[in-house]
Amino acid sequence: MKSIVVYSVIITLLLSLAQFNLSNAFGGKIDYKKIFKNECQKCHGRDGKVTKRGKKLGARDFTDAEWQASVTDKELIETITNGRKKMPRQGGKLSPEEIKALVKYIRYFVPKKRR
Ligand code: HEC
Repeated sequence: MKSIVVYSVIITLLLSLAQFNLSNAFGGKIDYKKIFKNECQKCHGRDGKVTKRGKKLGARDFTDAEWQASVTDKELIETITNGRKKMPRQGGKLSPEEIKALVKYIRYFVPKKRR
């Protein structure tokens, strides 16, 4: 009888360890480059310069410094989460953390200032 209790404690511990590792694998490091490549690139382009298809739908060039300066992170999060016009909403598909990471990534597309 005692050994059953010991075993179940061990199994419970192992299970919670496995769960911890899983949530780490998914929540810890977000592969925003991969998400962008899979979910966004077809319209927004590999380097943030809009693709032909994206342009037709009304997407803009993420490397436009003036545009970058004119929008806040909050607005970008809002647009990605809820979508806007032809921009498909990602809220159901991506977690808030993933969307935040994508906004950071979009910020990388701004060209270095010459001058
Ligand atoms: C089917 C094409 C398509 C896909 C896929 C797509 N977008 Fe868009 N996106 C658009 C269009 C079109 C707009 C412009 C919407 C508008 O008219 O305001 C836009 C706008 C945006 C904006 C706002 C730009 C601004 O003017 O403020 C952000 C940020 C953005 N997209 C990020 C993403 C991210 C991140 C993904 C991937 C998770 C993604 N988009 C996937 C088409 C797309």
